[in-house]
Amino acid sequence: MSEAIRLQDQVVIVTGAGGGLGRAHALLFAKHGAKVVVNDLGGSAHGEGANASAADKVVEAIRAAGGIAVANHDSVTAGEKIVQHALDAFGRIDVVVNNAGILRDKSFHKLDDADWDLVYRVHVEGAYKVTRAAWPHMREQNYGRVIFTASTSGIYGNFGQANYGMAKLGLYGLTRTLAIEGRKSNILVNAIAPTGGTRMTEGLIPPQVFAQLKPELVSPLVVYLASAACAETSGLFEVGGGWIGKTRWERSLGAGFDPRGGFSAEDVAASWQQICDFDGATHPADNLDALKQMMAHLQRYAL
Ligand SMILES: NC(=O)c1ccc[n+]([C@@H]2O[C@H](COP(=O)([O-])OP(=O)(O)OC[C@H]3O[C@@H](n4cnc5c(N)ncnc54)[C@H](O)[C@@H]3O)[C@@H](O)[C@H]2O)c1
Repeated sequence: MSEAIRLQDQVVIVTGAGGGLGRAHALLFAKHGAKVVVNDLGGSAHGEGANASAADKVVEAIRAAGGIAVANHDSVTAGEKIVQHALDAFGRIDVVVNNAGILRDKSFHKLDDADWDLVYRVHVEGAYKVTRAAWPHMREQNYGRVIFTASTSGIYGNFGQANYGMAKLGLYGLTRTLAIEGRKSNILVNAIAPTGGTRMTEGLIPPQVFAQLKPELVSPLVVYLASAACAETSGLFEVGGGWIGKTRWERSLGAGFDPRGGFSAEDVAASWQQICDFDGATHPADNLDALKQMMAHLQRYAL
């Protein structure tokens, strides 16, 4: 049997924790003994307005169950204020769960700059600001856990979600680099692509399935990734409805052309099947590993 996961001395920020998935994460963190900063601006699913009661109610629920939490009502775009709140309330910051999000779905030809910018600002700039403010504290204490919330809409694409898909897969790019930079300071960084029955997905998922996709079924993965028990970093996990899987990049063995004389578009066309053939595919671990095959190809033609 595995050890119990205890977060007694840990301070956790969960952004967008006034409802949906973030609320479920915050409640579970508190159950594991963590001190939780419940952040939520309390606006609409489209990013309009603000309402302090969303975060306040979650804090009330945590306290009623004997847990420790404070409410924070700042937008994630003011990430430094949220981190300062954690420091003022609890004196440290160990875990950041970047969860706040909105949707501005429109097909690309109807998308305007405001839809693009607002989705970018909440998901990407917001996650950046909170994490950037927490990072020096994590480095200093040689410990930290960061979780970004990506989406299958970013990994696989989804009609009407150009802005959202861009933001969500961008967060996985951020995850990969922060995992590399954080490793030597024992800061582990992972991303989840959740599916949950929340206001964000209401009406998009058949009601029966919606009811099964309880937000609480995503949170155990988040708490595990945020714990000292977890050694995983740079991972991407699809999670929902009680199922968890790991997703990774896969690359074909590819096709090589003689770099000395150049090659034509027709050569590319003739090799297309081979370029796209995933038989014997590889899974590069990092940038250097990824370049090895190209370098080996060049070496074949070295002078
Ligand atoms: N529900 C799903 O199936 C699903 C799928 C993929 C990704 N996600 C992602 O999971 C996260 C949580 O989504 P959810 O489904 O629980 O939706 P939700 O709308 O219930 O929760 C999002 C929360 O973020 C808060 N928020 C929005 N903008 C904010 C800001 N600027 N500052 C602080 N808080 C802000 C909202 O008030 C809300 O409480 C989001 O990042 C979303 O994109 C959800």
